[in-house]
Amino acid sequence: MSQSATAAKSNAKDTVTVTDNASGKAVTLPVMSGTIGPKVIDIRRLYSDTGMFTYDPGFVATGSCESRITYIDGDAGVLLHRGYPIEDLAQHCDFTEVAYLLLKSELPTAAEKEKFVYDITHHTMVHEQLAMFYRGFRRDAHPMAVMCGVVGALSAFYHDSLDISDPHQRMIASYRLIAKMPTIAAWAYKYSIGQPFIYPQNGLRYAENFLHMLFATPCETFNVNPVFAKAMDKILILHADHEQNASTSTVRLAGSSGANPFACIAAGIASLWGPAHGGANEAVLTMLKQIGNKSYIGEFLKRVKDRDDATRLMGFGHRVYKNFDPRASIMRKTCHEVLGELGIKHDPLLELAMELEKIALQDDYFIQRKLYPNVDFYSGIIFQALGIPTTMFTALFAVARTTGWVTQWNEMVEDPNQKIGRPRQLYTGRTRREFVPIVRRG
Ligand code: CMC
Repeated sequence: MSQSATAAKSNAKDTVTVTDNASGKAVTLPVMSGTIGPKVIDIRRLYSDTGMFTYDPGFVATGSCESRITYIDGDAGVLLHRGYPIEDLAQHCDFTEVAYLLLKSELPTAAEKEKFVYDITHHTMVHEQLAMFYRGFRRDAHPMAVMCGVVGALSAFYHDSLDISDPHQRMIASYRLIAKMPTIAAWAYKYSIGQPFIYPQNGLRYAENFLHMLFATPCETFNVNPVFAKAMDKILILHADHEQNASTSTVRLAGSSGANPFACIAAGIASLWGPAHGGANEAVLTMLKQIGNKSYIGEFLKRVKDRDDATRLMGFGHRVYKNFDPRASIMRKTCHEVLGELGIKHDPLLELAMELEKIALQDDYFIQRKLYPNVDFYSGIIFQALGIPTTMFTALFAVARTTGWVTQWNEMVEDPNQKIGRPRQLYTGRTRREFVPIVRRG
């Protein structure tokens, strides 16, 4: 049975009492319940009542906000957007439908979808002067470096959508970001290979348009392969949102000070770039190429398990999923479908990845730590089959996740409980000491 979204509740009987064993002082804290998922202890009064903070590096046990967008049950491998399972959305929707669902809470009717697609399509061009920005970058710049800069610069161009107190301006900024991100990412690629920028085509759908801007040249007509467009669309759906991950939390934290949406999304892109997060898809492919051959898997896994070696099995493990990542299961299937439809019978990297997955899943090290393939394990293999260069992998993730970021940012701005994000700390530095003039130091 599904429950409609309501504000989180706390009832008078649901409390937790924390006792300071040193002083014997006890404080009773309310417990809040959402519609599904674990209850949370409301610790907002903890400091004023006890003089103590909580300590939770990496937010392992801390809910940072109330949200109605995405739900994950990491033990059961469940991912819901606005209540709909990711499997259903990936099978029945296209990316724009999922973007609409995330942003507006409900799946669109046919007319609503048509209008949304029209509006997004008609925001895909970027200000012509923005094209000059690219020329300031070296040609060998990583596309994510270019995207951090260019997306941040959007706030210098779209002054009419910077007033975050105006819901209409917030929605225009959100549409602009979702619409322009494929153009910005594709241009980062074009710039890196010295080809002219390809402008968006209003007759093409979102994923198709993106592929067209990546691969067309002005010299000839370029028809996007429908198999590629379908695969790209599914990949975008699988990456659209993922609750309070590092980049989304970065967007929310940046936005909590009242910063404009373009600046916040640029911050999200910076966070996504890291190899522990969105950068993992690129790292997986680099890793597979380094292993090179099935016969080296054993040796590679020995390094992964060695505490003195920093090597990790990229594309494995997740903070929340401790059973399986439902996105990885769909991605694995899509990978086989894409290679099949492209007539690729033997892909050495896919075969290596499958063997690596099989061996790791039977290995005690990974079993004990509940480490399973995540969404990034197979996505790079599909990207490679689509002809997308490795350095663009994380940029593709950023294109998809922009929908989640703007949705979460809007929710944060509208939240009456929203405050500027300001964590505290456990200070372990020097205590107060006397100043020593420079002549007496040493
Ligand atoms: N390879 C080897 N060991 C691992 C791995 C891995 N990929 N992931 C976790 N571990 C070990 C880790 O060394 C630790 O072992 P021990 O208890 O002996 O110290 C244990 O498992 C717990 O790991 P953790 O680092 O405390 O877990 P976390 O929740 O902080 O990290 C993670 C989650 C995704 C950052 C991590 O699993 C990782 O680095 N994976 C590889 C990078 C990757 O694939 N990232 C993509 C994540 S999904 C898409 C996204 O979010 O963008």
